[in-house]
Amino acid sequence: MGRKVYLDNAATTYVSGEVLSEMLPCFNAIYGNSNSLHSYGRDASAIVDRARDRIAHAINAQKSNEIYFTSGGTEADNWAIKGIAHAYASKGKHIITSSIEHHAVLDSCKELEKEGFSVTYLPVDKTGLVNLADVIHAIRKDTTLISIMAVNNEVGTIQNIKAIAKTAHDYGLVFHTDAVQAVGAFRLDVQDMEIDAMSISGHKIYGPKGIGALYVKNGILIDNLIDGGNQERGKRGGTVNVPAVAGLGKAVEIACRDISINQQKLKAIRDYFIKSVKEKIDYIQINGHPQQKINGTVNISFEMAEAESLLMLLDLDGIAVSTTSACMSNALEPSHVLRAMGLSDDLAQSAVRFSFGKNLSKSDIDYVVEMLVKDVARLRSISAITKAGRK
Ligand SMILES: Cc1ncc(COP(=O)(O)O)c(C=O)c1O
Repeated sequence: MGRKVYLDNAATTYVSGEVLSEMLPCFNAIYGNSNSLHSYGRDASAIVDRARDRIAHAINAQKSNEIYFTSGGTEADNWAIKGIAHAYASKGKHIITSSIEHHAVLDSCKELEKEGFSVTYLPVDKTGLVNLADVIHAIRKDTTLISIMAVNNEVGTIQNIKAIAKTAHDYGLVFHTDAVQAVGAFRLDVQDMEIDAMSISGHKIYGPKGIGALYVKNGILIDNLIDGGNQERGKRGGTVNVPAVAGLGKAVEIACRDISINQQKLKAIRDYFIKSVKEKIDYIQINGHPQQKINGTVNISFEMAEAESLLMLLDLDGIAVSTTSACMSNALEPSHVLRAMGLSDDLAQSAVRFSFGKNLSKSDIDYVVEMLVKDVARLRSISAITKAGRK
C-alpha cells in the first residue's frame, strides 16, 4: 500500500488509545443504564458523573451540573442558539452572530428568523476577525444573545471571545461560543472568559464521534431540548450513551492537560510546512489571521489551481485534505467564510485546508509538499491551456 498522510484533523480525528481504553469496558463490563437504581445503573452513572466532572474541571466550570451531554457540536450549537433565544423571547427577539460561523449556528439562526426573530450577521475583516466595535454597534434594545465562535474551522482565526463576552454582559446579554475547534488549542476558562454557554465536540480531539457537550452556566435560561426522560437534568431526555460520554470526558481531559506539548509539536510542523510551501510554490496566499490563529489549521489558496481538483490529485497520492468544512464539502460553492473575508471567487475556489494531527512527522510534511509541488504544477498547466484556449 502506498504512503498515506492525514491532514484533515479539523474534520475529524482518530480515537486515541487512552480514550478507547476508557470507553471499551462501557460496552460490556459496565453496561447498565445510567438511569437505573441498582448497582449496574449506579456503576454506569458513576462513569457519566466522572466524565461530567472531568469536562467541568477542564474548562473551569463552577459546577459539574453545568455540563450537558449532546450528540455533538451541531446539536450543542442548535440547542444553545434556539434554546436560549426561546427562553429569553419575552425580553426580545434579536440575536447577534458572525457571518463566518459554522452552519450549525448559522442555520439555527435562519430557523429562528422564520419564527420572527431577527439576526445580525456581523462581517469580519480580511483575516477573519470580528470587530468589537461592530458588536457594540449591533446591540439593540431587543437583543438577548450574542454567539461568536472561538476558532473558525476553515481558517483557524481565533476571535477575541473574552472582550466580546464582557461587552455582552455590560449590556445584560447572554454570550455563547462554539468552541469545537478551540478545545485543546488553548486554555478555555469559562469563568475567566465570562462565557455563559459553550459548545464542544468529541471527534475533533481524539474522542468518539456523535458525542459533544454544551456548557450552560447556572442561572442562564435555556429551553429543554428533548422531552421524555429526566436525563441531563430533564433538559435532554434519552438513555445516555455511556461509552461515548466516557470517551468525551477522557478526550477533553487529555486535550486540556496536554495543550502546551501538543501545541509545541503542531506549531513546529505548521511552521515547517508553511516555510516549505512558500519556498517551493509560487502564487499562494495564506488565508486567516497571521498571528491570532491556532497552530493546527492552515488554509492556503493556490492561484490557478482549482481546490477540488487538487484535493482529488492529493487523494490519489494518499494525502487527505479538505476544501471547505467537511459537512459542506459536496456543496461546491465558494466557502461562506472565505467570501466573508473578502476573497475573490478565484482565490476562494483555490483554497485548501490542511489540518495537522499530533502524530505527524517532518518526513510526512516533506512528502506532502513534494506531492503538492507536482499536483499544483499539473493543475496550473491545465489551467494555462484552458485560459489560452478561451482567448
Ligand atoms: C466550529 C464547528 N462547530 C460545530 C461543528 C459540528 O460538530 P459535530 O461534528 O460534533 O456535530 C464543527 C465540526 O465540523 C465545527 O468545526
